[in-house]
Amino acid sequence: MVNISFCRLGRIIPESFAGYVLPYVRRQISRADNGSSYMVIGAMWNGLACGAAVVKWEENEGNLLSLFIDPKARRCGIAEPMSDLILEEGAALGKDSLNLEYILKDEELTAMDALVRARGGDLDTSDPVCGMKSEDFLDSPLVGPALHAGWKRPGSIVLFSELTPAQLDAVNTETGLPFYLRPSFLGERVDPALSAVYLVDDEPVAFVLGFQSGDRMFCQSSVWRGPNAPEGSFRALICTQINQCWYRSGGNFVFFISPINPRSAAMAEWFTGGNYDPYTQRDAEIPINREE
Ligand SMILES: CC(C)(COP(=O)(O)OP(=O)(O)OC[C@H]1O[C@@H](n2cnc3c(N)ncnc32)[C@H](O)[C@@H]1OP(=O)(O)O)[C@@H](O)C(=O)NCCC(=O)NCCS
Repeated sequence: MVNISFCRLGRIIPESFAGYVLPYVRRQISRADNGSSYMVIGAMWNGLACGAAVVKWEENEGNLLSLFIDPKARRCGIAEPMSDLILEEGAALGKDSLNLEYILKDEELTAMDALVRARGGDLDTSDPVCGMKSEDFLDSPLVGPALHAGWKRPGSIVLFSELTPAQLDAVNTETGLPFYLRPSFLGERVDPALSAVYLVDDEPVAFVLGFQSGDRMFCQSSVWRGPNAPEGSFRALICTQINQCWYRSGGNFVFFISPINPRSAAMAEWFTGGNYDPYTQRDAEIPINREE
């Protein structure tokens, strides 16, 4: 007989559960001060780790930062009671709602949507996202080389993790940059190892920002090319980002670009010659019934 159980985990997530929590979420929890309220739950299948969920409780609501059930343990009703435990805790804490954001397709999207709807939730927004499999751009003359050993990052590119405080400040205060593209606005959607900046005379002139959105899933959160960015800088930045995703995952990953405007839609075509999968990016909200 299968025994499914749940356990509360602390800020340092044990190794057996760590692979079920998005890396940037793990980093965020481990760096948080003691006053921050995170709820970290592990799921077990006959005593073996098989999934985890992380919620950050804000003043009136919770944000689901990560939810992942091992593919071998899916469709067995594990995510359902786990979500109910989260909603129960939210009710006990007097919160009003739980917010969810996910990029999925096919069965996983159906399952997440079902989970939300069965708990009285609303699927607020639904945007198409292009998901490109790394194996599909292995042979691309534009970005394929970044997926091969021996590719070298151009000397004019630095990773976000390598920026000096002054360069970081310059990126955030660049006048031609809309606020919603600024790293300071995107917060945790800027993974310092998956985001890169092109420098001319030590000044940032273009960047690509990205983060890990799931197991072997990477998302481009913002791109910017200033007037002083030289020809070819953009391609070099994308190659750097792709190479970093490859380095982190070891291959076989999906790279997401939102075709929110004609330029980004053209970029998805440019990568793969139109060979991408349609994913859906969803914002959802589940109301929490407070305990009186
Ligand atoms: C989505 C996910 C959490 C579901 O976990 P699970 O333990 O398999 O889900 P459950 O068995 O508890 O089922 C939950 C609901 O989905 C439905 N469901 C599950 N698998 C389904 C499938 N393949 N097709 C259709 N519906 C499905 C169930 O019927 C249930 O619906 P109900 O509440 O209306 O009864 C799991 O597929 C997963 O971890 N996917 C990856 C998610 C991810 O990438 N997360 C990162 C972003 S946060």
